[in-house]
Amino acid sequence: MKKITKAVFPVAGLGSRFLPATKATAKEMLPVVDKPLIQYAVEEAVAAGITDMVFITGRHKRAIEDHFDKAYELEATLEAAGKTELLRIVQEVVPKHVNCIYIRQAQPLGLGHAVLCAKPVVQDEPFAVLLADDLIDGEPPIVKQMVEVFGRHQCSILGVQDVPRAHTGQYGIVSCSNLEQNIEKVHGIVEKPKPEVAPSTLAVVGRYILTPRIFHHLENVQPGAGGEIQLTDGIAALMLEEQLLAYRFNGIRYDCGSKLGYLQAQVALGLKHKELRADFAEYLKTVV
Ligand code: UTP
Repeated sequence: MKKITKAVFPVAGLGSRFLPATKATAKEMLPVVDKPLIQYAVEEAVAAGITDMVFITGRHKRAIEDHFDKAYELEATLEAAGKTELLRIVQEVVPKHVNCIYIRQAQPLGLGHAVLCAKPVVQDEPFAVLLADDLIDGEPPIVKQMVEVFGRHQCSILGVQDVPRAHTGQYGIVSCSNLEQNIEKVHGIVEKPKPEVAPSTLAVVGRYILTPRIFHHLENVQPGAGGEIQLTDGIAALMLEEQLLAYRFNGIRYDCGSKLGYLQAQVALGLKHKELRADFAEYLKTVV
């Protein structure tokens, strides 16, 4: 029985939909309420028992590395000022038993290429992939749900959700047949199909568990439009060799790669925040 101990976080995209905010920082460092998107994703992986976090970084490497590193000066200043609660928050950004590993993707050649960059660290183990711009609020956290499914099926699993047919052109879309409650067997996957030709409305969102065989397929994927190596193409090839499942996760997803989804996440998580929710709810009543 294989266990999932490694998670890969591709954070090397250009984030062009958020310019100019992403001119000098990674999209995954944008905060929702008081935490950057990448921290929500890392916390989700930690909750699933994952201990090795592999970040595929690009030109905005520093901010992400610094965020998960020890901040000696800041900690000393907070300690001297007696700000113990803030000190605790800073020190607990990542638990001590967790390793953070950084790999540079020299050019943003696509999500498939970013995942392939993790091969030297992941090697011959199954692993999780989390796209931090898909913020998913679920209990238990989504990757934990998927690790549980992996424990029973020992194969690659895609996190999926139904989307309006008009939106299929924004996602990888699967064709599948039902295996058990919330779990589908995938027979086909296509990247960004037009609504009239989409095989279903079941969309792959930013959570994956993949077997290491994916690396072989990503090495052989031909670059598509814009020279990008698509993860979907690698998964389509993997599916011809191994069982591939789609898991309808239990949770609410916010597409924080888009401005509207990002604002929705701010409102939803603001209304759940223990210090803010009452005042924020009052404020919202005055503006809607
Ligand atoms: P997106 O498709 O959202 O692209 O990438 P993007 O560049 O981040 O954002 P836009 O579309 O320009 O606004 C999906 C995920 O894959 C990562 C991104 O960081 C994001 O988490 N990615 C994408 C890489 O790490 N490398 C790439 O070459 C492409």
